Amino acid sequence: MPDATVSATFDVYRFDPAKDAKPRYDRYTLELAPHTPILSGLLRIRAELDPSLALRYSCRSAICGSCAMQVNSKSRLACETPIGPELARHGRIVVEPMRNQPVLRDLVVDQEPFWRHYEQIEPHLILDPRRPMPEGTPNPMSPEEVERFRETPRCIACGACFSACPAVEADPAFPGPMALAKLYRFVVDPRDQAHQDRLVRIQPGGLWTCLRCHLCTEACPKDVRPSERIRDLKELAVRALGGTEPGSRHAVGFKNNIRDRGLLEESKLVRQTSGLAGVASQIGQGLRLYRKKPEILRAPHRIEGYDEVEKIYETLDSDGEGGP
Ligand code: SF4
Ligand code: SF4
Ligand code: FES
Repeated sequence: MPDATVSATFDVYRFDPAKDAKPRYDRYTLELAPHTPILSGLLRIRAELDPSLALRYSCRSAICGSCAMQVNSKSRLACETPIGPELARHGRIVVEPMRNQPVLRDLVVDQEPFWRHYEQIEPHLILDPRRPMPEGTPNPMSPEEVERFRETPRCIACGACFSACPAVEADPAFPGPMALAKLYRFVVDPRDQAHQDRLVRIQPGGLWTCLRCHLCTEACPKDVRPSERIRDLKELAVRALGGTEPGSRHAVGFKNNIRDRGLLEESKLVRQTSGLAGVASQIGQGLRLYRKKPEILRAPHRIEGYDEVEKIYETLDSDGEGGP
Protein backbone atom coordinates (compact mmCIF):
# COMPACT_ATOMS: atom_id res chain seq x y z
CA MET A 1 0.00 0.00 0.00
CA PRO A 2 1.49 3.42 -0.93
CA ASP A 3 2.39 5.75 1.94
CA ALA A 4 -0.16 8.43 2.88
CA THR A 5 0.75 11.80 1.42
CA VAL A 6 0.65 15.32 2.83
CA SER A 7 0.23 18.64 1.11
CA ALA A 8 3.73 20.17 1.14
CA THR A 9 4.21 23.89 0.54
CA PHE A 10 7.66 24.96 -0.67
CA ASP A 11 8.70 28.62 -0.67
CA VAL A 12 11.76 28.62 -2.89
CA TYR A 13 14.30 31.44 -3.24
CA ARG A 14 14.55 32.58 -6.85
CA PHE A 15 17.13 34.98 -8.19
CA ASP A 16 18.91 35.37 -11.48
CA PRO A 17 21.42 38.22 -11.14
CA ALA A 18 21.44 38.61 -14.93
CA LYS A 19 17.70 39.33 -15.06
CA ASP A 20 16.25 40.11 -11.62
CA ALA A 21 16.57 43.35 -9.69
CA LYS A 22 16.06 41.49 -6.40
CA PRO A 23 15.32 37.99 -5.13
CA ARG A 24 11.79 36.63 -4.70
CA TYR A 25 10.23 33.50 -3.22
CA ASP A 26 8.06 31.29 -5.46
CA ARG A 27 5.47 29.05 -3.81
CA TYR A 28 4.84 25.49 -5.01
CA THR A 29 2.55 22.88 -3.47
CA LEU A 30 2.88 19.12 -3.98
CA GLU A 31 1.36 15.97 -2.52
CA LEU A 32 4.28 14.01 -1.05
CA ALA A 33 4.91 11.21 1.45
CA PRO A 34 6.37 12.63 4.72
CA HIS A 35 9.62 10.70 4.32
CA THR A 36 10.31 12.33 0.92
CA PRO A 37 13.67 14.12 0.93
CA ILE A 38 13.51 17.84 0.22
CA LEU A 39 15.74 17.32 -2.82
CA SER A 40 13.17 14.89 -4.31
CA GLY A 41 10.47 17.52 -3.74
CA LEU A 42 12.56 20.16 -5.53
CA LEU A 43 13.25 17.78 -8.44
CA ARG A 44 9.51 17.13 -8.78
CA ILE A 45 8.89 20.87 -8.78
CA ARG A 46 11.42 21.20 -11.57
CA ALA A 47 10.02 18.23 -13.55
CA GLU A 48 6.33 19.02 -13.13
CA LEU A 49 5.86 22.68 -12.26
CA ASP A 50 8.82 24.88 -13.14
CA PRO A 51 11.73 23.66 -15.29
CA SER A 52 13.59 26.96 -14.77
CA LEU A 53 14.51 26.20 -11.13
CA ALA A 54 18.31 25.92 -10.74
CA LEU A 55 19.80 23.68 -8.06
CA ARG A 56 22.88 21.55 -7.57
CA TYR A 57 22.93 17.86 -6.64
CA SER A 58 24.56 14.60 -7.69
CA CYS A 59 24.59 11.46 -5.52
CA ARG A 60 21.21 11.83 -3.72
CA SER A 61 22.80 9.73 -0.95
CA ALA A 62 24.49 12.28 1.37
CA ILE A 63 27.91 11.47 -0.08
CA CYS A 64 28.88 14.08 -2.68
CA GLY A 65 28.04 17.21 -0.63
CA SER A 66 26.50 19.01 -3.63
CA CYS A 67 22.98 19.64 -2.35
CA ALA A 68 23.72 21.73 0.77
CA MET A 69 21.22 24.58 1.14
CA GLN A 70 19.29 26.50 3.78
CA VAL A 71 16.13 24.68 4.84
CA ASN A 72 13.93 26.72 7.15
CA SER A 73 17.02 28.81 7.97
CA LYS A 74 19.27 25.84 8.85
CA SER A 75 22.14 24.50 6.74
CA ARG A 76 21.11 21.04 5.54
CA LEU A 77 21.78 18.43 2.87
CA ALA A 78 18.52 18.47 0.89
CA CYS A 79 18.87 14.81 -0.08
CA GLU A 80 18.88 13.56 3.51
CA THR A 81 16.36 15.97 5.06
CA PRO A 82 12.80 14.61 4.93
CA ILE A 83 9.88 16.97 4.44
CA GLY A 84 7.71 15.55 7.27
CA PRO A 85 9.54 16.97 10.33
CA GLU A 86 10.05 20.33 8.57
CA LEU A 87 6.32 20.63 7.83
CA ALA A 88 5.42 19.53 11.36
CA ARG A 89 7.68 22.18 12.84
CA HIS A 90 7.31 25.10 10.43
CA GLY A 91 4.12 24.38 8.44
CA ARG A 92 6.03 24.96 5.17
CA ILE A 93 9.49 24.45 3.71
CA VAL A 94 11.49 27.59 2.99
CA VAL A 95 14.42 26.71 0.74
CA GLU A 96 17.27 29.17 0.21
CA PRO A 97 20.81 29.00 -1.16
CA MET A 98 23.79 28.56 1.16
CA ARG A 99 24.91 31.74 2.89
CA ASN A 100 28.29 33.45 2.83
CA GLN A 101 28.78 32.72 -0.88
CA PRO A 102 27.45 34.74 -3.84
CA VAL A 103 24.33 33.39 -5.55
CA LEU A 104 24.86 32.35 -9.16
CA ARG A 105 21.20 31.47 -9.73
CA ASP A 106 18.34 30.35 -7.47
CA LEU A 107 19.81 27.70 -5.13
CA VAL A 108 23.24 27.54 -6.77
CA VAL A 109 26.08 29.49 -5.14
CA ASP A 110 29.62 30.25 -6.20
CA GLN A 111 31.72 28.22 -3.75
CA GLU A 112 34.93 30.10 -4.54
CA PRO A 113 35.28 31.63 -1.01
CA PHE A 114 34.88 28.20 0.61
CA TRP A 115 37.46 26.53 -1.62
CA ARG A 116 39.87 29.49 -1.52
CA HIS A 117 40.14 29.21 2.25
CA TYR A 118 40.56 25.46 1.97
CA GLU A 119 43.45 25.85 -0.48
CA GLN A 120 45.09 28.51 1.69
CA ILE A 121 45.58 26.11 4.60
CA GLU A 122 47.66 23.85 2.29
CA PRO A 123 45.57 20.72 2.81
CA HIS A 124 48.33 18.21 2.21
CA LEU A 125 51.27 16.80 4.15
CA ILE A 126 54.28 19.10 4.19
CA LEU A 127 57.36 16.95 4.53
CA ASP A 128 60.88 17.96 5.49
CA PRO A 129 63.13 17.08 2.52
CA ARG A 130 65.91 16.29 5.03
CA ARG A 131 63.69 13.60 6.62
CA PRO A 132 62.02 11.73 3.75
CA MET A 133 59.32 9.16 4.50
CA PRO A 134 60.88 5.72 4.77
CA GLU A 135 60.35 3.94 1.46
CA GLY A 136 58.75 0.50 1.36
CA THR A 137 57.57 0.55 4.98
CA PRO A 138 53.98 0.65 6.14
CA ASN A 139 52.40 3.87 7.38
CA PRO A 140 54.56 4.87 10.38
CA MET A 141 51.59 6.12 12.42
CA SER A 142 50.23 4.36 15.48
CA PRO A 143 46.48 3.73 15.91
CA GLU A 144 46.48 6.32 18.72
CA GLU A 145 47.95 8.94 16.37
CA VAL A 146 45.36 8.18 13.70
CA GLU A 147 42.63 8.35 16.33
CA ARG A 148 43.44 12.02 16.97
CA PHE A 149 41.90 13.02 13.66
CA ARG A 150 39.26 10.31 13.44
CA GLU A 151 36.45 12.74 12.53
CA THR A 152 38.01 14.97 9.89
CA PRO A 153 38.24 12.39 7.03
CA ARG A 154 34.46 12.09 7.20
CA CYS A 155 34.12 15.59 5.73
CA ILE A 156 32.39 15.64 2.33
CA ALA A 157 33.15 19.34 1.69
CA CYS A 158 29.47 20.20 1.47
CA GLY A 159 29.96 23.73 2.86
CA ALA A 160 27.01 23.49 5.27
CA CYS A 161 29.27 24.64 8.12
CA PHE A 162 30.62 27.57 6.10
CA SER A 163 27.05 28.65 5.35
CA ALA A 164 26.08 28.45 9.03
CA CYS A 165 29.11 30.36 10.37
CA PRO A 166 28.47 33.90 11.72
CA ALA A 167 32.23 34.58 11.90
CA VAL A 168 32.51 34.09 8.12
CA GLU A 169 29.56 36.43 7.67
CA ALA A 170 31.17 39.10 9.88
CA ASP A 171 34.68 38.69 8.51
CA PRO A 172 35.13 37.12 5.06
CA ALA A 173 38.85 36.70 5.82
CA PHE A 174 38.00 34.12 8.51
CA PRO A 175 38.89 30.70 7.02
CA GLY A 176 35.70 29.04 8.20
CA PRO A 177 35.05 25.82 10.09
CA MET A 178 35.84 23.26 7.41
CA ALA A 179 39.24 24.76 6.52
CA LEU A 180 40.18 24.96 10.21
CA ALA A 181 39.06 21.37 10.88
CA LYS A 182 41.25 20.26 7.96
CA LEU A 183 44.13 22.32 9.28
CA TYR A 184 43.80 20.55 12.63
CA ARG A 185 44.07 17.22 10.82
CA PHE A 186 47.54 18.17 9.48
CA VAL A 187 48.72 19.88 12.67
CA VAL A 188 48.28 16.64 14.65
CA ASP A 189 49.67 14.37 11.92
CA PRO A 190 53.16 13.35 13.14
CA ARG A 191 54.34 12.98 9.53
CA ASP A 192 53.70 16.66 8.83
CA GLN A 193 56.78 18.82 9.37
CA ALA A 194 55.07 22.23 9.34
CA HIS A 195 53.05 22.07 12.61
CA GLN A 196 54.51 25.17 14.17
CA ASP A 197 54.50 27.17 10.97
CA ARG A 198 50.87 26.29 10.30
CA LEU A 199 49.90 27.49 13.80
CA VAL A 200 51.88 30.71 13.44
CA ARG A 201 50.25 31.48 10.10
CA ILE A 202 46.67 30.73 11.13
CA GLN A 203 46.56 32.83 14.29
CA PRO A 204 46.26 36.46 13.13
CA GLY A 205 42.74 37.08 11.83
CA GLY A 206 42.06 33.35 11.68
CA LEU A 207 41.80 31.02 14.60
CA TRP A 208 40.68 33.42 17.31
CA THR A 209 37.89 34.98 15.27
CA CYS A 210 35.77 31.88 15.95
CA LEU A 211 32.87 32.78 18.26
CA ARG A 212 32.49 29.27 19.74
CA CYS A 213 28.80 29.24 18.80
CA HIS A 214 28.93 25.60 17.57
CA LEU A 215 26.53 26.32 14.69
CA CYS A 216 29.01 24.61 12.35
CA THR A 217 28.91 21.44 14.42
CA GLU A 218 25.13 21.53 14.51
CA ALA A 219 25.02 21.94 10.70
CA CYS A 220 27.58 19.26 9.84
CA PRO A 221 25.90 16.16 8.36
CA LYS A 222 28.96 13.98 8.96
CA ASP A 223 29.70 14.70 12.61
CA VAL A 224 33.10 16.24 11.88
CA ARG A 225 32.41 18.63 14.78
CA PRO A 226 34.50 21.50 13.39
CA SER A 227 34.02 23.76 16.42
CA GLU A 228 35.65 21.10 18.62
CA ARG A 229 38.58 20.82 16.24
CA ILE A 230 38.95 24.64 16.35
CA ARG A 231 38.98 24.49 20.15
CA ASP A 232 41.73 21.84 19.91
CA LEU A 233 43.69 24.03 17.49
CA LYS A 234 43.49 26.99 19.88
CA GLU A 235 44.83 24.84 22.67
CA LEU A 236 47.66 23.54 20.47
CA ALA A 237 48.50 27.10 19.40
CA VAL A 238 48.76 28.35 22.97
CA ARG A 239 50.78 25.34 24.10
CA ALA A 240 53.20 25.68 21.17
CA LEU A 241 53.47 29.46 20.95
CA GLY A 242 52.19 30.93 24.24
CA GLY A 243 50.15 34.12 24.35
CA THR A 244 51.60 35.67 21.21
CA GLU A 245 48.68 37.80 20.04
CA PRO A 246 45.39 39.17 21.44
CA GLY A 247 43.30 36.04 20.90
CA SER A 248 45.63 33.69 22.74
CA ARG A 249 46.45 36.28 25.42
CA HIS A 250 42.71 36.67 26.02
CA ALA A 251 42.30 32.90 26.43
CA VAL A 252 45.23 32.57 28.83
CA GLY A 253 44.17 35.71 30.74
CA PHE A 254 40.59 34.49 31.07
CA LYS A 255 41.71 31.17 32.52
CA ASN A 256 44.15 32.73 35.01
CA ASN A 257 41.69 35.44 35.90
CA ILE A 258 38.99 32.98 36.99
CA ARG A 259 41.58 30.82 38.71
CA ASP A 260 42.70 33.73 40.93
CA ARG A 261 39.38 34.51 42.59
CA GLY A 262 36.63 32.50 40.91
CA LEU A 263 35.21 35.43 39.00
CA LEU A 264 36.13 37.51 36.02
CA GLU A 265 37.99 40.74 36.70
CA GLU A 266 37.15 42.53 33.47
CA SER A 267 39.53 45.49 33.73
CA LYS A 268 42.43 43.09 34.38
CA LEU A 269 41.40 40.94 31.43
CA VAL A 270 41.59 43.95 29.08
CA ARG A 271 45.10 44.65 30.41
CA GLN A 272 46.15 41.04 29.97
CA THR A 273 44.74 40.89 26.44
CA SER A 274 45.75 44.23 24.98
CA GLY A 275 48.44 45.70 27.30
CA LEU A 276 48.49 49.32 28.46
CA ALA A 277 48.03 50.67 24.92
CA GLY A 278 44.90 48.55 24.63
CA VAL A 279 43.62 49.84 27.97
CA ALA A 280 44.12 53.43 26.80
CA SER A 281 42.17 52.75 23.61
CA GLN A 282 39.29 51.26 25.62
CA ILE A 283 38.89 54.06 28.17
CA GLY A 284 35.67 55.40 26.61
CA GLN A 285 34.10 51.97 26.52
CA GLY A 286 35.33 51.29 30.06
CA LEU A 287 33.63 54.42 31.37
CA ARG A 288 30.35 53.41 29.71
CA LEU A 289 30.66 49.95 31.25
CA TYR A 290 31.45 51.44 34.68
CA ARG A 291 28.26 53.52 34.58
CA LYS A 292 26.25 50.34 33.98
CA LYS A 293 28.29 48.02 36.23
CA PRO A 294 30.15 50.04 38.89
CA GLU A 295 31.10 46.78 40.62
CA ILE A 296 33.81 46.22 37.96
CA LEU A 297 36.11 48.52 39.95
CA ARG A 298 35.38 47.01 43.36
CA ALA A 299 38.40 45.67 45.29
CA PRO A 300 39.04 42.14 44.03
CA HIS A 301 37.89 39.39 46.37
CA ARG A 302 37.53 35.65 46.22
CA ILE A 303 34.01 34.33 45.70
CA GLU A 304 32.22 32.29 48.31
CA GLY A 305 32.89 28.60 47.72
CA TYR A 306 36.17 29.34 45.94
CA ASP A 307 37.47 25.93 47.12
CA GLU A 308 35.25 24.30 44.50
CA VAL A 309 36.81 26.42 41.74
CA GLU A 310 40.25 25.38 42.91
CA LYS A 311 39.23 21.72 42.83
CA ILE A 312 37.92 22.06 39.25
CA TYR A 313 41.24 23.55 38.11
CA GLU A 314 43.22 20.88 39.96
CA THR A 315 41.18 18.12 38.33
CA LEU A 316 41.57 19.68 34.87
CA ASP A 317 45.33 20.09 35.38
CA SER A 318 45.77 16.50 36.56
CA ASP A 319 43.77 15.21 33.52
CA GLY A 320 45.88 17.29 31.18
CA GLU A 321 42.66 19.13 30.21
CA GLY A 322 43.60 22.40 31.82
CA GLY A 323 44.11 24.05 28.45
CA PRO A 324 46.35 27.01 27.88
S1 SF4 B 1 31.91 27.76 16.27
FE1 SF4 B 1 33.29 29.19 15.20
S2 SF4 B 1 33.64 28.25 13.21
FE2 SF4 B 1 31.83 27.24 14.10
S3 SF4 B 1 30.08 28.39 13.30
FE3 SF4 B 1 30.60 29.31 15.28
S4 SF4 B 1 32.01 30.99 14.75
FE4 SF4 B 1 31.90 29.65 12.95
S1 SF4 C 1 32.90 19.86 8.15
FE1 SF4 C 1 30.86 18.94 7.91
S2 SF4 C 1 29.55 20.63 7.26
FE2 SF4 C 1 31.65 21.30 6.97
S3 SF4 C 1 32.12 20.83 4.84
FE3 SF4 C 1 32.78 19.05 6.05
S4 SF4 C 1 31.01 17.67 6.08
FE4 SF4 C 1 30.25 19.64 5.38
S1 FES D 1 23.07 15.04 -3.60
FE1 FES D 1 25.00 14.35 -2.91
S2 FES D 1 25.02 14.93 -0.82
FE2 FES D 1 23.00 15.40 -1.50
